[in-house]
Amino acid sequence: MKKMWGGRFKSELAEEAKAFSYSLATDFELFEADIQLNEAWVKVLAQAKILKSAEKTKLLKGLASVKKRFMKYYEIDKTPKEFLDLCYEHEDVHSLIQVELEKSAGAVAKKLRTGRSRNDQVTTALRLYLKKVIPELIKSVTHFQKVLVQFAQKNQKVTIPGYTHLQRAQVVSMSHAILAYVEMLERDKERFQDALKRIDVLPLGSGALGGATYSLSRDNLKKLLGFSKVSDNSIDATADRDYVIEVLSGVSQMYIHLSRLSEDMILWNSTEFDFITLDDAYATGSSLMPQKKNPDLFELTRGRSGKAVGHLVSALMNQKGLPLCYNRDLQEDKEDLFPALHLAFATLEVLQGAIKTTQVNHLNCQICSEDSFLYATDLLDYLVGKGLSFSDAHRISGEIVQYAISEGFELDQLSLDVYQKLCSKVDKSVYKIYNPTVSITKKKTHGSTSPSSVKKQLVKWKNKLK
Ligand code: ARG
Repeated sequence: MKKMWGGRFKSELAEEAKAFSYSLATDFELFEADIQLNEAWVKVLAQAKILKSAEKTKLLKGLASVKKRFMKYYEIDKTPKEFLDLCYEHEDVHSLIQVELEKSAGAVAKKLRTGRSRNDQVTTALRLYLKKVIPELIKSVTHFQKVLVQFAQKNQKVTIPGYTHLQRAQVVSMSHAILAYVEMLERDKERFQDALKRIDVLPLGSGALGGATYSLSRDNLKKLLGFSKVSDNSIDATADRDYVIEVLSGVSQMYIHLSRLSEDMILWNSTEFDFITLDDAYATGSSLMPQKKNPDLFELTRGRSGKAVGHLVSALMNQKGLPLCYNRDLQEDKEDLFPALHLAFATLEVLQGAIKTTQVNHLNCQICSEDSFLYATDLLDYLVGKGLSFSDAHRISGEIVQYAISEGFELDQLSLDVYQKLCSKVDKSVYKIYNPTVSITKKKTHGSTSPSSVKKQLVKWKNKLK
């Protein structure tokens, strides 16, 4: 098949070299962006009088027909054989479009390559692609946040033991714990939004590395393609893939959040915690043990976080030690970027369903929240309220805990006599602290787990996530 180079070569590329280097199977994902870029290039060449008006029309028509013919391969599952043949014939998506355009528009298509290199083309197409996909990813995160907020809203009254070091620590509201993940995801969106600022710069017009000899208006290109800025250095513009790393880093961070959420869901779903029950549609059985109901989707999310981060590490290593400017190594960026993005979309989607259908085991949450040792801090605060210094109160409440453990009592089972022996300031009002609602309601600081604070958070998210 015809390539975009070859004049100085006597022979064809070896078959195994083709197989090793051709990238259409991956970079076809840039097809739409590359067509769009070509259309803008045609218009700018025409403005610069490099193309006559009739040539411009012919090329735009040609591009439209190439688009029409090949868009169907976005659903490649339907025509795998045909698509594989194309991947074998064409070096990359840019070659495919060029060769096919020559077929549909004739010799004038050759003029389209004036002043342009695939080096500025590929990075422009990739930026265009991300300008479209990142806002979609942000939307998808927002959707997921909404599901979490709904879950939090529905279970506002539920309390659970909160853990530090995976040891029962204090009673918290389950909604508060869930809303912690909504905060994390919000920061993830901010990172994507921020990356968009640096993605939104037009490299086209930088040529292979040194710029173009033709007086082409990069400003018009910018407008036609909807970029906010034009790059100022053609070497940087063709060599830069920072933005790929930024996106992969954002995806990795988000995926780590999803992995941590999954771990909580796995724990909460276990017999030992028993805070939630997963819906049958989002759990799996064991081929051996009939009683099992496994949280596989959350486990796969936790497991695949390694893949998400792996793509980031791979892209970083890919760029380490690259001399200026473009090197073929950079073709590999898409091998990391696309799978990482696909994984992010797929995970958000499946977790949405899994969370939406999860049932909370109210009774057990209540029982677990009544574990008296969760109230040791409340006891400490009670003693402070009775006039003890914090450090004396800490020591004495520790002694009370120690006594209860050694005598085999719950804290709320100790008699008033015992309390008063250990601290004369204690009176019968101490028994009121052993109550989940009382405990969380006493929290006063902004952002705490108190019902009013949780309510405020829910209102904030409902307004923010519209
Ligand atoms: N397919 C290449 C990539 O994705 C673009 C082509 C640039 N190739 C070249 N030999 N200058 O990076």
